[in-house]
Amino acid sequence: MGKALDGVRILDFTHVQSGPTCTQLLAWFGADVIKVERAGAGDITREQLRDIPEVDSLYFTMLNHNKRSVTIDTKNPQGKQVLEALIQTCDVLVENFAPGALDRMGFTWERIQELNPRMIVASVKGFGPGPYEDCKVYENVAQCAGGAASTTGFDDGPPVVSGAQIGDSGTGLHLALGIVTALYQRTSTGRGQRVLAAMQDGVLNLCRVKLRDQQRLERTGVMKEYPQYPNGKFGEAVPRAGNASGGGQPGWILKCKGWETDPNAYIYFITQAPVWAKICNVIGKEEWATDPDYATPAARLPHLKDIFAEIERWTMTKTKFEAMGILNKYDIPCGPILSMKEIAEEPSLRKTGTIVEVDHPLRGKYLTVGNPIKLSDSPTEVTRSPLLGEHTDEVMAELGYTPEQISALRTAGAI
Ligand code: COA
Repeated sequence: MGKALDGVRILDFTHVQSGPTCTQLLAWFGADVIKVERAGAGDITREQLRDIPEVDSLYFTMLNHNKRSVTIDTKNPQGKQVLEALIQTCDVLVENFAPGALDRMGFTWERIQELNPRMIVASVKGFGPGPYEDCKVYENVAQCAGGAASTTGFDDGPPVVSGAQIGDSGTGLHLALGIVTALYQRTSTGRGQRVLAAMQDGVLNLCRVKLRDQQRLERTGVMKEYPQYPNGKFGEAVPRAGNASGGGQPGWILKCKGWETDPNAYIYFITQAPVWAKICNVIGKEEWATDPDYATPAARLPHLKDIFAEIERWTMTKTKFEAMGILNKYDIPCGPILSMKEIAEEPSLRKTGTIVEVDHPLRGKYLTVGNPIKLSDSPTEVTRSPLLGEHTDEVMAELGYTPEQISALRTAGAI
C-alpha cells in the first residue's frame, strides 16, 4: 500500500527533539527523510542519556525512526556542494539550529531559492521576531515563556513544568502541519515558502484556554471553577489551578485504594453535569441530586472541595481500575492515572501500534511510541533509526556521485 507522502524528499537538518519529532512524523507518512549530521559526531542526542555504552541512546532512537543518515561537513567547501545537490533534489529543508546558524553556513533563504525555488524551508526557533529572537531555547524555557509554567501547579507552590514535551514535540507537530500545508499550496503556486514554528507560540497555542481565562479574570475578578473560589484570592494574572479541569465540567484527581504505597493509585474524576444524579447514586449521596445547594452546576461551584472530598471517600474504597469499571457503566467521565510502566505494558496500545517494539542492530529490542496519527490509507511501519552516516554512500550515489568521487570527498573530510 502507498503512503500519503510518497515521493516527498525531506532534507532533515534537525537535532535534539523538536525538529526530529516533526521529520519523524513526515517519515511515518511516507516521506524520504535524509538526516544530515555532522561527520564524526552526529545529532548530539546520540550520546545523551545513554543506557548502553557506545550505543545510540533511546533519546536518539525514539525520535529518528524511518530516516536515512548522511554525514556532511557543511562548513567544508566541498561539503557545501554536496548540500547544494541535496537542496536541488529535495522538497523541504527542515532545521532547528540556533538562530542564524543556517545563514552563517551560507544557506540563506535567498541562496536556497536560487538553488531550488520550489524548496520549502521549515524552521523551529525558540521565539518569533522580537526581543528574544536570537536566544537559544530548550523545552522548559518554552514552557515558561509560553504561559504553561505560570498556569501549572498548585496555588501555594512555584510554577511547574509538565512531563509532556509541549515545547519540543508540541512545536514539532505544529511545524509538520505547516510543512504539509505549504506542500499543498505549492501544488497550485509552484513556489516554496518559509515555515516558522516558534516554541513560545506553539506552547501558547496549547495554553489558549489560559489566555481566555486571563480576559475573564480581568472582566469579572473571579473564576468560579478555579479552586481559589470561593475562599482564596485572585490576583491580576491567571493563577495555577492545581488539577482543576479547566473547562466547564469540574474535575479533580482523587485517591484510590492503595494510594498510601502506590504513587499512581489515583483517578481523574469529572462531575459532568448530565450525569450528576448518577454520581450521587454511586457515592451514596442520593439527596444531593435534589438538594438546591448541590442540584445545579452553579449551586455546586462553591462546594466543589467538599464534593470531591465526599467522592474521594468512595474512590478510596476501590482500585483505580475498579472505580473505572463502575463509573464507565454510568457514563461518568473519569480516567486512571497510568504510570509509564502500566502504559508500556498495555496490550491495547501495542495492538494499535501506538506502542511498538523495535529491533536495533546494536541495542537489541526496545519500546517506542509509534505514530499517534492513524491514516486508513497510509499505514505506518516503524523502522529503526539509522546509524551515524549509514546511508551516506547510498544517498551520494543517488545524487550521481561515483564511488571514486565519494572516496575523494571522504578523504577531504567533506563527508
Ligand atoms: N557540519 C558542520 N557544522 C554543522 C553541521 C554540519 N553537518 N550541523 C550543524 N553544524 C553547526 C551549525 O552550523 C552551528 O554552527 P555556528 O554556531 O558556527 O553557526 C553549530 O553546529 C551548532 O548549532 P546550534 O544549533 O547552535 O547547536 P547548539 O547545540 O549550540 O544549540 C539548541 C542547540 C537546541 C539550543 C539550538 O539549536 C536552538 O536554539 N535551536 C532552536 C530551538 C530548538 O529547536 N530548541 C529545541 C531543541 S529540542
